[in-house]
Amino acid sequence: MTEKQKNQLGVLLVGSGSATPMQKITNDQLALRVDTSDEWIRTRTGISERKILGKDQSFVEMCSIAGLQAISMAGWKPETIELIILATSTPDDLFGSAAKVQSAIGAKNAVAFDLTAACSGFLFALVTGAQYLRNGSMKRILVIGADQLSSWVDWDDRKSCVLFGDGAGAVAVESSDNKDHLIGFKLRSDGSRGDCLTLGKTKEFQSIVQQNNFQIGNFDSIQMNGQEVYKFAVREVPAILDELLKMHHIDSSSLDWLLLHQANKRIIDAVATRFKIPKSKVLSNLAFYGNTSAATIPLMLDEAVRDKRIKSNDLIATSGFGAGLSWGAALIKWHGPI
Ligand code: COA
Repeated sequence: MTEKQKNQLGVLLVGSGSATPMQKITNDQLALRVDTSDEWIRTRTGISERKILGKDQSFVEMCSIAGLQAISMAGWKPETIELIILATSTPDDLFGSAAKVQSAIGAKNAVAFDLTAACSGFLFALVTGAQYLRNGSMKRILVIGADQLSSWVDWDDRKSCVLFGDGAGAVAVESSDNKDHLIGFKLRSDGSRGDCLTLGKTKEFQSIVQQNNFQIGNFDSIQMNGQEVYKFAVREVPAILDELLKMHHIDSSSLDWLLLHQANKRIIDAVATRFKIPKSKVLSNLAFYGNTSAATIPLMLDEAVRDKRIKSNDLIATSGFGAGLSWGAALIKWHGPI
């Protein structure tokens, strides 16, 4: 622990879970709808297929499965959870979906709220939740990252529709008075560059009465300048990771895993090359899910925990980035069930 953290409690990741929809759409299938090809999508992005929520399952159900898996791995009873943060940009209800997940998993004593920071959402939520554990006001929290971007993609826009999928991932996190596995973090926002990736309200107005009007509650599909987002990611992710590693005097050679937001294989490869991290230490499941926004990091973490690649005390450098613009990085150690 650093000097500053000495009077604070530590944070341990003790369970993980994930859920993705049954419905699979391959690149070849997408090519039946838009002018694209499996070869183009794979070579430019690394994506082969994505899972999409259909009629058979809801967003809240998907989040609940991920959450239940995480608390089951942790060995917790749902009623012992004090806080649920659902990182999402695509709730079922604009007033929030976290409370619906809280009810579905029987976490009746937990306060629950949504947090929106697009693809950085999981990292922002993990760091936010950790503060309640550090200051001793809570002992057990559940952090879920989940998105259903398929509802907001223009399925006729080949420049963006090939990239996204739906999914949910969760971690059970608890406080500890003798260990701290959230070694450090850095979070950033820059709204001045946010126009290159938006899911904004349409600018349609209607009259209420006399000269008074209101803005209709409709949203446009996702609008993206892919090249600008790409340049942002390959510039900012290495910079923030570098800052974080230096701040904690950690050399990249001592990392066990690099777990980046799964947006594009070329971005992941560029960051790994920059830090001389061998392929064997780079976690990626992008090929099977595409970019699931706030879900990518916990979804990948859960997969690697369950197939026993990630072991207790492994040091993981993680970084999320996306709309806002928002980005961040954290150094964490996996703990596993106590
Ligand atoms: N299939 C076939 N051709 C496509 C295509 C597709 N799905 N999408 C775009 N193209 C075409 C373009 O129309 C363009 O053709 P033109 O040269 O005739 O105009 C050509 O491919 C190159 O387009 P460009 O946009 O320059 O491709 P790119 O190499 O930048 O790759 C992305 C596009 C979207 C894959 C890439 O920019 C990217 O990954 N950006 C980051 C996006 C991201 O991660 N967003 C989420 C962040 S959280």
